[in-house]
Amino acid sequence: MKTRELGNNLRVPAIGFGAMVLSPGVYGDIDDTRAETALKAALDAGATHIDTSDAYGADGHNERLVGRAIKGRRDEVVVATKFGLAIPEGEASRSQPVGYAFGELRVNAEPRMIRRYAERSLRNLDTDVIDLYYSHYVDPGVPIEETAGAVAELVEAGLVRHLGLSNVTADELRRAHVVHPVAAVQNEWSMWRPVDPDLLKTARELNVGIVAWSPLGNGFLTGTVQQLGEGDFRHNAPRFSADNLASNNDRYAPIRDLATRLGITPAQLALAWLLHQYEHVVAIPGSRTPAHIEENLAAADLVLHRDTLARVDEALAGFEVTGGTLL
Ligand SMILES: NC(=O)c1ccc[n+]([C@@H]2O[C@H](COP(=O)([O-])OP(=O)(O)OC[C@H]3O[C@@H](n4cnc5c(N)ncnc54)[C@H](OP(=O)(O)O)[C@@H]3O)[C@@H](O)[C@H]2O)c1
Repeated sequence: MKTRELGNNLRVPAIGFGAMVLSPGVYGDIDDTRAETALKAALDAGATHIDTSDAYGADGHNERLVGRAIKGRRDEVVVATKFGLAIPEGEASRSQPVGYAFGELRVNAEPRMIRRYAERSLRNLDTDVIDLYYSHYVDPGVPIEETAGAVAELVEAGLVRHLGLSNVTADELRRAHVVHPVAAVQNEWSMWRPVDPDLLKTARELNVGIVAWSPLGNGFLTGTVQQLGEGDFRHNAPRFSADNLASNNDRYAPIRDLATRLGITPAQLALAWLLHQYEHVVAIPGSRTPAHIEENLAAADLVLHRDTLARVDEALAGFEVTGGTLL
């Protein structure tokens, strides 16, 4: 698998694996046996950058799954996790508005909490160091310099290797980077969710990698989502309401057709297109299905001709998505 560099010296596969899909209550029901099979398939196929969070699944469920999967092969894997949304009972939190139907997330990224979060994640992951540690969302009550400073102390203490920031603006990236070099920003970026041009410009200037979350648009860009099952969190995302999903699928047809003409799948076109947008962007698609994982990873080797990229851009310019954004 081709690799890319995040920040100054964190090398990861161009396509990694987003583990959120493996906890119950995200894309519906899933059991640990299926989750463990998917993680093993991802690692065996070379998706050795695994992205998780202390907030995926109940009580660190997702981190514990990852911890079991990397047992005995820790050195092969770049383990990335996040903090700030799994707040212990009785601790304060602030509101971060989001475009999901529930309207907000609660965040606590106070420096006094961060070592406690890291120690909990290390226990869940059953490891002694986190390779890439992200603040999951910015805490509106805490200057980002203070959050970054607390992670810098963990780097100093050897508990964390690299600082990451998720769901940040260009200005927040710049301010945190002064305190400690940021290896990667993790924001939503896909064919139906353009990256903020200021953030991309700042990342280029500071040599910061971008880890694109939901690079398949929560599955939409694979062209296979016609309706949602029970217990699927996408019921909270207006882009997936029955009417919006039908009209978005209609408007996406030219891009699906382009993939067919190229002899690849829409998922592969979506991932390959993303990798062509910035030399330091990597994708972390999630999947519970080994065949999908293989299909996605094959996109790392696709080279798109500039005429193809121009045709995609033209098709995307006419692809007006209904249902707003999530952030
Ligand atoms: N930092 C943040 O705030 C944030 C927020 C959201 C997500 N993330 C990260 O980004 C990762 C990926 O995001 P995501 O899971 O939301 O969305 P995604 O990767 O865009 O899409 C996942 C969905 O696509 C389906 N899928 C994957 N490959 C497929 C293929 N080849 N053909 C058909 N269907 C396919 C999966 O279903 P199957 O299981 O059936 O394959 C799943 O339903 C997460 O795991 C998480 O690590 C971060």
